[in-house]
Amino acid sequence: MATLLNLSYLLAAVLFIFGLKQLGSPKTARRGNMLAMLGMLIAILMTLLDKQIIDFTYIIIGLIVGAGIGAYAAITVQMTNMPQMVALFNGFGGAASTFVAYSEFVAGNYVTSTGDPKLDIVITIGLSVLIGTVTFSGSLIAFAKLQGIMRGAPITFKGQQALNAASLIAVVILGGMLAVNPDNAILLVIILAIALLLGVISVIPIGGADMPVVISLLNSYSGLAAAATGFVLSNNVLIISGALVGASGLILTQIMCKAMNRSLANVLFAAVGTDDSTGTASGGRKDKSSVTQYTAEDAAMVFEAAQSVIIVPGYGLAVAQAQHVLQEFAQMLMANGTKVRYAIHPVAGRMPGHMNVLLAEANVPYDMLLEMDEINEDFQNTDIALVIGANDVINPAARTDKSSPLYGMPILNVDHAKSVMIVKRSLSAGFAGVDNELFYDQKTMMLFGDAKGMVTDLVKEYKNL
Ligand code: TAP
Repeated sequence: MATLLNLSYLLAAVLFIFGLKQLGSPKTARRGNMLAMLGMLIAILMTLLDKQIIDFTYIIIGLIVGAGIGAYAAITVQMTNMPQMVALFNGFGGAASTFVAYSEFVAGNYVTSTGDPKLDIVITIGLSVLIGTVTFSGSLIAFAKLQGIMRGAPITFKGQQALNAASLIAVVILGGMLAVNPDNAILLVIILAIALLLGVISVIPIGGADMPVVISLLNSYSGLAAAATGFVLSNNVLIISGALVGASGLILTQIMCKAMNRSLANVLFAAVGTDDSTGTASGGRKDKSSVTQYTAEDAAMVFEAAQSVIIVPGYGLAVAQAQHVLQEFAQMLMANGTKVRYAIHPVAGRMPGHMNVLLAEANVPYDMLLEMDEINEDFQNTDIALVIGANDVINPAARTDKSSPLYGMPILNVDHAKSVMIVKRSLSAGFAGVDNELFYDQKTMMLFGDAKGMVTDLVKEYKNL
């Protein structure tokens, strides 16, 4: 049985790895998800069939309740609320690791048959409780910020960094004491309490709009906690899957930071972002008379003459849920012989892959979606760059203005297109809270309005031509 168990765990691990690989492209992501799900099913079934289980009652209750809540949440969640849901799931993952490790400690499963404590198990129990609990409380704060239960703005207070550092030092010392004296159970309880506090105080100073990066990092922590628990239980598949989650979460965090041109330290400690809103702080300060405003009717005529259009979606598209009507418009343009493609910036929207998921919902064929590096050189040969609810990811200040918080962030070369149409409600700033020169550019036509309403009008006017 042990060989069969380990072979199936190996198969599950291989499926996880292939699944992760396929998640790297929108074309294969669905299949990747299925493979990883299959791996998890095999891992769960084989663990359940393993002879160590004495009673199935609680397992079955847990499976039914957990699967029910998970399925309901996944089906009903709004796409724009996805980061919150991921935060909650990460948090529960962390809590599960804490519970398992803690119960192994209480059950005394850290001693050898001769009654001596196993140092490696004691250390991994401590790590699992620490990381799992930080993940839990940190994720709940991230959830509360994104859900609007808590203020999204960074919450800072005097001595915060010092308290963070002191808490960290305290858990290291307590962990050392636990390793020396594992029978002193109160030490683990104190580690747990400090970890709860640490999760809270390390996430409250981070702005709501930076939460996706934090969630990805917490996701990585939840994997590390699971891997530590895997060592506690000597369960290979838990070690492997935990390590995969830990590594992939960290890689994703890194990708997001790079695409925003910010360091992880800046995200975690600089208290950036006044709110999780679209930011109106500095918008509209410039001379509005230089802005060219178009109606849907004017714009439809320009589109009729265009041979090529690149659509640039952003956060506003998600807020307005305009993806379906936008694709309808794209199809009308293509039916008229216009070449249409979508340009996807890696951090457009508020979560990784936000635009890909949104456009997949509207059945946009994958070959119409092009990553920034693939399409950036094509803007200069394009008649119209149609920007829908995007702002920071097209802001030319990122190239030229050293004082801009966006400076250095790679952007879509929308300003290189022959003409630019921007659909948004006002001249307000985006997430970074900075003005966008492009709104005032001679070749830019502003179409003010909600993205869904404006694109619906465009469709109507285009049909009437
Ligand atoms: P933003 O720069 O945030 O701009 C979105 C624009 O959408 C706003 O200026 C807003 O202007 C407009 N908008 C909002 N609701 C709208 C509606 N109903 N209809 C039409 N327009 C609407 O978005 P972006 O260009 O996608 O850039 C994303 C930003 O988020 C970047 O700064 C990025 O660093 C940050 N960020 C992204 C991530 C990930 S992983 N994607 C994670 C953390 C942070 P109006 O108010 O004038 O309409």
